[in-house]
Amino acid sequence: MCGIVGYIGTRDCVDMLVDSLARLEYRGYDSSGIAVAGPDGIQVRKAAGRLSNLRRKLADEDRPAGHAGIGHTRWATHGAPSDVNAHPQGTKDVMLVHNGIIENYREIEDFLTQKGYTFSSETDTERAACLIDWYYRSGKRDPQEALRGALGVIRGSYAFAVLFRDFPDRLYAVRCESPLVIGLGDGENFIGSDVTSFISYTKKYYLLEKDEIAEIRADGVYIRGMDGHLVEKKVQTADWDVSAAEKGGYPHFMLKEIHEQPEAVRAAISPRIRDGLPWLEGDGIDTDKLPKYRKLFFVACGTAMHAGLVAKYVIERTAGVEVTVDVASEFRYRDPLITKDDLFVAISQSGETADTLAALRLAKEKGADTVGIVNVVGSSIAREVDHVLYTYAGPEISVASTKAYMVQIAVVYLIAMELALKKGTISRSQCEAAVSHLQEMPDVISQVLEEKDTCSMIASRIMNAESLLYIGRGLDYALSMEGSLKLKEISYIHSESYAAGELKHGTISLVTEGMPVIAIATQKRIIEKTISNIKEVKARGAKVVLICAPEVEVGKDVADYVIHLPKTDDIFYPMAAAVPMQLIAYYCSALKGNDVDKPRNLAKSVTVE
Ligand code: M6R
Repeated sequence: MCGIVGYIGTRDCVDMLVDSLARLEYRGYDSSGIAVAGPDGIQVRKAAGRLSNLRRKLADEDRPAGHAGIGHTRWATHGAPSDVNAHPQGTKDVMLVHNGIIENYREIEDFLTQKGYTFSSETDTERAACLIDWYYRSGKRDPQEALRGALGVIRGSYAFAVLFRDFPDRLYAVRCESPLVIGLGDGENFIGSDVTSFISYTKKYYLLEKDEIAEIRADGVYIRGMDGHLVEKKVQTADWDVSAAEKGGYPHFMLKEIHEQPEAVRAAISPRIRDGLPWLEGDGIDTDKLPKYRKLFFVACGTAMHAGLVAKYVIERTAGVEVTVDVASEFRYRDPLITKDDLFVAISQSGETADTLAALRLAKEKGADTVGIVNVVGSSIAREVDHVLYTYAGPEISVASTKAYMVQIAVVYLIAMELALKKGTISRSQCEAAVSHLQEMPDVISQVLEEKDTCSMIASRIMNAESLLYIGRGLDYALSMEGSLKLKEISYIHSESYAAGELKHGTISLVTEGMPVIAIATQKRIIEKTISNIKEVKARGAKVVLICAPEVEVGKDVADYVIHLPKTDDIFYPMAAAVPMQLIAYYCSALKGNDVDKPRNLAKSVTVE
């Protein structure tokens, strides 16, 4: 939700800022802007719409010159996406870019109005910038003091990068809840919402914490606490390089990330398998405690929540432990009955999703132990859980999550097996067999990827539908929800996922001649029942796409298009079946000419409630 960047050094600041924004555009793309500190004060350029609009503006108008600047790519919260609401926002003395939401901006506005301020935008950010300006001008014109004063008043979530006109040799950065990192170069330094923004220049960075103020100069970074004392920070190093954040010959990041899944799964599971068994001790998990939990709560949003649904089916089936799955925005307001005897598991690619973070804090307040299945290293959720299981998928740039989902469920399987082994619901040899199946999954996924032409053909036949259904039972139902979300998100075709057995209780009335229905049938014990449900929709004119286990015999009375998956163990089929669903959604979107990686109205990381 919004990307912020900053650069200070000897290179062309405009180029550096725009280049960094291009890497963060997936975080929001309603508008963008930059501010550059130069001899004639702070120069601001901004434009509604995609970054290309800003690039055009910079080519058409005079280019700001300078070596220190800040930039922003926006996902609108307060005020429509427009030039005037684009960031940077501020005054002639203070300019800032912001990711987050200022909750008490009305109070701040009232206070500032009394002091004679007027506002040109509808943004909460402009109120925050003016508040810093007020502290600056009414104090000793000291940036640190002004920031401390304003932060004492501001409530909400924010990552700010700030420029002061009188100090063109430095940038300031602060954060609370929203992510912010400081890249450490040689004679140059960076600010970014995440490492992706500066990875082509440096892999070294600091993680900024709440109540720290960073002063960033070309030759050094000074981080102080609220009382002004210097804080010693550990230098972090990103363990991936720029190629991971580039398309590498694929037309879209989504397609690249779908193809990265075999490797991503290997990276997620290999460090967690020893002697053929799951090994979670390396992540600090007390595995002897695992079987003692009364209940497990998996809480997440969107695709990550769908990974939680897979966890429920797999853990309840293999380990016999009750699992509750919640959408984080519901969990936090439904008075959940979670106690100190429970384990709370947050799943999040970004590690910054506001609702998941709030749910985690609630679970901690209630005394539960907490674990995070998180992709982004050093993110807020990763830092606040008792133990984090990183998924090691590398950066996921496409807004539509694919490889992150795949590695989330890969890690879930390891938790399920460990728990089942410790509970005694499976034997050591059964556990070894399951682990070995999991280790085969990267190859299985690679084989399914070879079906991409079939998926493209199927997409071409369904892409003009107004609406379609995804159906399945059990684990297949959990997966169908993810298939449906993926399609809606990027192709803008309405779809719903339904438990196949539930159709006749209402939804089957929607089925008309030619309506596409994507059915999944992989689970031996219920395949026949699913096939009966498929025949019911087929008999009513549905155009059926069936994704199924290899042994399923499919006649013309069942499906129009069939994708047979390679053989695997029943519980692992979600990893195989997810692939054609991702590819069908991808091709529907690409064939429609949509912006696949940046679907309308969305952003990659949702840091607001
Ligand atoms: O970063 P997170 O995994 O916490 O994000 C959660 C959801 O916002 C995310 O999975 C979203 O649903 C995806 N864009 C779907 O593809």
